[in-house]
Amino acid sequence: MIDVRLTAVSKRFAKSSDSAAVDDVTVTIGAGEFFTLLGPSGCGKTTTLRMVAGFYFPTSGHIHFGDDDVTHWTPNKRDTGMVFQNYALFPHMTVAQNVAYGLKVRRVSRADQARRVEEALAQVHLAGYGDRRIDALSGGQQQRVALARALVIRPRTMLLDEPLSNLDAKLREETRAEIRRIQRESGTTSIYVTHDQAEAMAMSDRIAVMESGRVQQVGTPHEVYYQPANAFVARFIGRSNVLSLPVTGAGEQRVQVRLPGGASIEVGAPAGHGLAEGDTALVSARPEHIALGGDDDTASLRGRVSHVEFTGMATHVTVDVDGDEVMAALVDAPAGMALGDVVGLRLVPERLWVVKP
Ligand SMILES: Nc1ncnc2c1ncn2[C@@H]1O[C@H](COP(=O)(O)OP(=O)(O)O)[C@@H](O)[C@H]1O
Ligand SMILES: [Mg+2]
Repeated sequence: MIDVRLTAVSKRFAKSSDSAAVDDVTVTIGAGEFFTLLGPSGCGKTTTLRMVAGFYFPTSGHIHFGDDDVTHWTPNKRDTGMVFQNYALFPHMTVAQNVAYGLKVRRVSRADQARRVEEALAQVHLAGYGDRRIDALSGGQQQRVALARALVIRPRTMLLDEPLSNLDAKLREETRAEIRRIQRESGTTSIYVTHDQAEAMAMSDRIAVMESGRVQQVGTPHEVYYQPANAFVARFIGRSNVLSLPVTGAGEQRVQVRLPGGASIEVGAPAGHGLAEGDTALVSARPEHIALGGDDDTASLRGRVSHVEFTGMATHVTVDVDGDEVMAALVDAPAGMALGDVVGLRLVPERLWVVKP
């Protein structure tokens, strides 16, 4: 097992404008870690992954696999297993021929090829499927063949670019658990790319949240969820509300803010937040940490209901609080809540978190 280190990696495409596709990215992916690049479309995830694979060279910066500086190595020297959104299987070959491909290229003996293909197919729970035609398989099975094909070469790193995007919702959830099981068993250092925050949260040891080519935050799913570094991360992960509130006092990792009703509450803040009385703090409040009720003396907001959405698991109630939309996810919403109703919203101060702009 090896770690993968990106140091100040940037990529500018020749003909594109002056903005970099990937801008000064520094991250270390631990040996055996399942690490995810998460962000909206166009934020630079694929470009980053392709530089790790060797399909693009960085404009500046360095990439290390363990002690090897691989920045300018060709892809075939890097021993990376790749899995893509569109499977990229050879349709005219059988499952076994597809999986054996990388071994053939590496001139592994026929007997070893057969044994390792069987092993890899067993790993992805497709033992006995070797003679099937690719087009006789479901999407989920095809993606598992692609996984087996990547695993069979015993790669030093696994790189997966939105591998579940072409599957329907249920299969996507099954396959993501399957990918994580296979990765745990093989212990391969893995970099996974997705724009789906729930997928990233469910699968990853750690996540790098990206926007506009830059890493906004690196952390465990818990860290990026409960302690988002900035307003972008707060909103992108779990659709958090970001409230602008006047600061009435500040400590090292605490800030007091005043709610519209007049009450002051104390909320968590990162060390070095730099806020002082008189400033305005941005405070992240998760929809599921907001309940109905409360009055002006407590941690509450008041406003008119502007939108109601029933999702089954919860009812999403959007309330207009002095012109700001605040969304609460209520597990037990009272029946018959109507647009225009005036409601109180109770915040959970321990769950609030100060974010940077
Ligand atoms: N080959 C290319 N030539 C020029 N621009 C590119 C190329 N590939 C990607 N880009 C640009 O780089 C940015 C990041 O793209 P990409 O890495 O594909 O994002 P993501 O995978 O996060 O959706 C986008 O603005 C995209 O248009
Ligand atoms: Mg992409």
